[in-house]
Amino acid sequence: MNFTERDKNNIWHPFTQQKTADAPIHIESAKGSVLFSSDGKKYIDAISSWWVNIHGHGNEYIANKIAEQAKKLEHVVFAGFTHTPAIELAERLIQILPTEFSKVFYSDNGSTSVEVAIKMALQYWYNQGITNKTKILAFENAYHGDTFGAMSVGGKSAFNKPFHQHLFEVIHLPLPTGNNLEALKIRIQELSNQDTIAAFIFEPLIQGAGGMIMYEAEYLDELLSVAKQNDIICIADEVMTGFGRTGNTFAIDYLQNQPDIICLSKGITGGFMPFGVTVCSQNIYDSFYSDDKQKTFFHGHSYTANPLSCVAANASLDLLLAEKCINEIKRISKSHSDFVNEIKDDASIKNIRHLGTIIAFEIDTSEDTSYFNSISNKVYNFFIERGVLLRPLGNVIYIMPPYCITTDELNAVYMVIKEFLIYIKK
Ligand SMILES: Cc1ncc(COP(=O)(O)O)c(C=O)c1O
Repeated sequence: MNFTERDKNNIWHPFTQQKTADAPIHIESAKGSVLFSSDGKKYIDAISSWWVNIHGHGNEYIANKIAEQAKKLEHVVFAGFTHTPAIELAERLIQILPTEFSKVFYSDNGSTSVEVAIKMALQYWYNQGITNKTKILAFENAYHGDTFGAMSVGGKSAFNKPFHQHLFEVIHLPLPTGNNLEALKIRIQELSNQDTIAAFIFEPLIQGAGGMIMYEAEYLDELLSVAKQNDIICIADEVMTGFGRTGNTFAIDYLQNQPDIICLSKGITGGFMPFGVTVCSQNIYDSFYSDDKQKTFFHGHSYTANPLSCVAANASLDLLLAEKCINEIKRISKSHSDFVNEIKDDASIKNIRHLGTIIAFEIDTSEDTSYFNSISNKVYNFFIERGVLLRPLGNVIYIMPPYCITTDELNAVYMVIKEFLIYIKK
């Protein structure tokens, strides 16, 4: 039996309609921005494998750090025990985050980092005996993960439809624009007057899985200002935007008003280890710090603060904060803006946008912009056949490359996109 048959026999892939999807490509190895398949083909990974491999694949520095740590301490229960990689990482994260965060809580993926944030926010009020602050504000079309809390704060969509009756109540607001900003501020103020809003969760500056929708830092800042004046806990979900994606280390670096809690994952370990981190302010922590055991944050995962994940994150940070990587991010951003200028007037696309290392645009089809736009498979296959991994969100094509992508590789990605734009006009 070949790999395809063995895969089909026993594996159920994520986000995949197993009946109609093409057989998955068997990848044998990867280096830098390139994936190598077992049938001898190469693919430029222009989406950093679901946005995680910020330093590309097979990075030896991170690999060696993990290998060294694996021989020393691969794991230890994190209740009642601690270890240096976790301590060092917490110190560094608190130091590089732009506001005065105080405590780092470890978990193991993006969704759990969000679950932890939501639970922290709700229990923050509960621990103080404030029982009416129970509702959460979020943005329409948001994506915060696939666990139940994360689905609840995410936008209502076909993804979570089978579970709608099981999701808790969340008030979803439209993204702020120049037109609705004042109305949104009034809405948040009115909701706050009823004194029921516990927290506000948002993906700062870019809604990722919702279609790479970008919005202004300035508008978000104004909403945060109203939220903060009304004692609403602000949660920045930087699972996608963190670690250099937007051109700054964090998207919240663009904001004046800072969140009380931030969720991090994806790029944190450079794609080497599953990991999630939720960082909170002293104020949040203080509400749990008590002689009363009932005020404990009763949350944890078996792999919480896994030492291999922590060293991978520390190593990834070493690389991210070095001048080389900072320059690579600037290079990609500059190259992206040149590419935007080159294709922005193409009749087949609309709404082209760019921030830092991310470009997105929509293919103008007769259907609405949506994850289920039928052009999606055609686009994916067109790129794959030409050795580029781009995984459109419906008719939204985006590029989110590893920072080590070479200029030639990036140009190859742009070329394939330009080829596609000619192809669809035929
Ligand atoms: C903003 C955001 N939050 C949370 C998640 C969930 O992360 P994970 O897939 O690791 O559970 C994602 C994943 O795409 C995300 O983009």
